[in-house]
Amino acid sequence: MSNMEVEETNINNNSKHDETESLNISNDSLQSEDSTDLKYFNGVEISQLTKRQMKKYKKFLNWENVKKIKRAQERKKCKEKKIHAKLNNIEIGPSRKELNKNKMENSSCKVGICIDLSFSDLMINKDMAKTIKQILRVYTENRRAKAPMQLHLTSFNGKSKEEMARHNGYENWDINIHEKDYLDIFPKEKLVYLSSESDNVIQNFDDDKIYIIGGLVDHNFHKGICLKKANEQGIAHAQLPISEYFWMKTRKVLTINQVFEIILRITEGKNWKEAFEMILPKRKEKRDIEKDELTEITEIKE
Ligand SMILES: C[S@@+](CC[C@H](N)C(=O)[O-])C[C@H]1O[C@@H](n2cnc3c(N)ncnc32)[C@H](O)[C@@H]1O
Repeated sequence: MSNMEVEETNINNNSKHDETESLNISNDSLQSEDSTDLKYFNGVEISQLTKRQMKKYKKFLNWENVKKIKRAQERKKCKEKKIHAKLNNIEIGPSRKELNKNKMENSSCKVGICIDLSFSDLMINKDMAKTIKQILRVYTENRRAKAPMQLHLTSFNGKSKEEMARHNGYENWDINIHEKDYLDIFPKEKLVYLSSESDNVIQNFDDDKIYIIGGLVDHNFHKGICLKKANEQGIAHAQLPISEYFWMKTRKVLTINQVFEIILRITEGKNWKEAFEMILPKRKEKRDIEKDELTEITEIKE
């Protein structure tokens, strides 16, 4: 057995031992009442509690202990995961400490991305929830990036705000959240609305611009709605150059997080082909189209 294997077996054995130990602790702690230094409970001195209040107090102590144990178990699990990753050369991403340093304001990337949430009323609740889920993915990717992009949510109110409220603490995230529309925040000439229906094809991203992604999951029921909006508002628009690199069997409408992640990869120095290949699901077979080898992309699932 190699050193590495020995070390790993030890970890596993230890973790089993610790697990039973923590289960014992858990049972013990459920019976203990004097694990905190509280003198008062709900404003009443402990020694003066009625039978009923004492029952509540014990319940409270139990819950506090359970919480402590759960936290300790989570910490242990996390530690084990890190050790396992290290032993197996698995990349687990940046640490919390690194993430905390990695704020948008310190980022070398100044490309602005705005997710336009003004379409909430066009979506049924299920699709609104999917939209927010995609935005959570966007947020996670941006947080993990070495050079995060400058991320904004606009028209964040009503349904989108209600749905986001299910995710605790989003108010403290490193993301610019605006209730107002993008037109009330950014100069018009800096805006570029991204739309698969646009005739303009974007090739690179400018630090000085804000690229808008429609915050909409509609299974393309409202085909071209973002392009229409951009034209009505007199702002620039463009599509990603998918067809230059891939042959798409069906449509080339991507999800919010796919668009975001592709742009992020481009800002990190990948070329378009690499960025598309990293983000878009593709079929194994390649098709020869007009003598160019273009990878076929399966239909994008929202
Ligand atoms: C699921 S799509 C919404 C589709 C919607 N029916 C529309 O017409 O915009 C979400 C957003 O991703 C962006 N997007 C999707 N595919 C794109 C592409 N091929 N090029 C540029 N932007 C794209 C657009 O901003 C779009 O509003």
